[in-house]
Amino acid sequence: MLAPSLLSADFARLADSALAVPNADWLHVDVMDNHFVPNLTIGLPVVQSLRGHTELPLDCHLMIDDPDRWAPPYAESGAHNVTVHVEAAADPVQLARTLRAAGALAGLAVKPGTPLEPYLDLLREYDTLLVMTVEPGFGGQEFIAEVLPKVREARRRVQSGHLRLFVEVDGGVNAETICAAAEAGADVFVAGSAVFHAEDPAKAVDALRERARVSMSPAGRVSGPSDGQPG
Ligand code: DX5
Ligand code: ZN
Repeated sequence: MLAPSLLSADFARLADSALAVPNADWLHVDVMDNHFVPNLTIGLPVVQSLRGHTELPLDCHLMIDDPDRWAPPYAESGAHNVTVHVEAAADPVQLARTLRAAGALAGLAVKPGTPLEPYLDLLREYDTLLVMTVEPGFGGQEFIAEVLPKVREARRRVQSGHLRLFVEVDGGVNAETICAAAEAGADVFVAGSAVFHAEDPAKAVDALRERARVSMSPAGRVSGPSDGQPG
């Protein structure tokens, strides 16, 4: 699945940007609070407004402190997937349950330097694992291929039946790097600049998705491209 990130869109024309990628699977919304990351973007009111302007499932990536307190309203506002950072969550198990009870998929994000092992059991509570492939905070950074072993490990656990998860990569994903991510086992690809800085964003979505499709190993390929549930 391909999730264009609005972080690289024109913030004064977010609804138009959503309309520019009708063929996307999810629409990725980066929420930053200037505390968890050194950048400030958009918050709940904007997500609520967006909800009324696009049919695309909203994939909200919360790069914020105290998600235990601030994340549930995103689920209640109709976000399809709400991802919180494990480095910021005080009680990630309870938080996942709250998000799911509000009708959203629950996502857990790990920064490039955060190992996966301590959280593998916890991931049973989650629908999405977001492996950051850049330091969170800004679009347009270079893909960090060194984190791909985490993607491989997560995919291995899904294949062996220990976890049921989307494995999402976010940061520096473009026509070249998406192949390595897909080969490692990712099945949701966030792309900001590679989509919204392209001349034709919708075309870029299709091209990226096709690049990922051919790079996925048959065993790692998930069925049903956009049924909205983890493989
Ligand atoms: C970074 C954000 C990403 C970002 C990706 O903190 O989480 O979603 O928008 O942008 P690109 O694809 O330009 O790296
Ligand atoms: Zn993101």
